[in-house]
Amino acid sequence: MDMRGRDYISDLDFSKEETEHVLELAWELKSKRNSGLEHALLKNKVLAMLFFFSSTRTRGSFEAGMAQLGGHAAFIEPKTTQISHGDTEMELGQIYGRYFDGIAIRHCDWGVGNKYLRDVAEASIAPVLNMQCEVYHPHQCLADLMTMMEVFNGDIKGKRVAVSWAYASSYLKPISCPQSLILQLPRFGMDVVVAHPTGFELMPEILGEARDLANKNGTGFDVVHDMEEGCANVDVVYAKSWGPLMTTADDEEGKAMQDQHSDWIANENIMAMANDDAVYMHPLPADRDIEVAKSVLEGNQSVVFQQAENRLHAQKAVMALTMG
Ligand code: CP
Repeated sequence: MDMRGRDYISDLDFSKEETEHVLELAWELKSKRNSGLEHALLKNKVLAMLFFFSSTRTRGSFEAGMAQLGGHAAFIEPKTTQISHGDTEMELGQIYGRYFDGIAIRHCDWGVGNKYLRDVAEASIAPVLNMQCEVYHPHQCLADLMTMMEVFNGDIKGKRVAVSWAYASSYLKPISCPQSLILQLPRFGMDVVVAHPTGFELMPEILGEARDLANKNGTGFDVVHDMEEGCANVDVVYAKSWGPLMTTADDEEGKAMQDQHSDWIANENIMAMANDDAVYMHPLPADRDIEVAKSVLEGNQSVVFQQAENRLHAQKAVMALTMG
């Protein structure tokens, strides 16, 4: 399966078969790293990493991943470039596409980020990889899927996942994680229940696409407005916060809306609603004892560190296949 030169901006840019191919390589690379075996699939290749927004895991995993593949990753902050002085997306694609073998971008600004990535990709001969925009977080979702497959020994068909909103006080988090999940999971036979308070809706076009995928794949797809109802009898509690970005663009108004739902916390009562062997997932960073109880985040049912580790392996597989 030749995936060289392919962009990965939306989760659906790779077919189900291509996604499976990526995951097979991810497990091979994970095993090689754990065994100390060399896997320099990208010798002399260089990835540009352009971050318009802060990151712990995404930066660390892409940068370490490139080094482990025998290449190099260049960390570039827009404020240290000439972007604010006029470099356009087209120029960036044209120029960085000639310098680099891949261009990874994180740009989460509402109504701006996804178009920015697509405009760079349009002009670039090198693949563009989405390190999170306001619509999708595909590399996070790949790691999530990989983790679910590991947790359930590959038997994820028919498993039910709660993609639940949870309260946070830190900032209005993007809606890209839940949106990627509801697009990706139905293709793998998983039932999805989205739970959120009124006002915290996801993009209608993404919900429509997700419903169509669920119908096509014969999987369940529900939207509810109660956290306990959403998490009842599920196999995965994926509870995280996101801002009411479809309702208001105003940070203060959004924060006031969030503050009305501080009871939406992934705590032991919520985990008790789920199946006995259910796991708790979160992409991190999490607001401890606000978004999720520390006892859940660090408890036996939490797989958040396995999930974070899998960012490394999944992204290495994407880079090796698209930049090789
Ligand atoms: N989950 C995730 O994308 O983490 P960072 O924001 O730290 O990169």
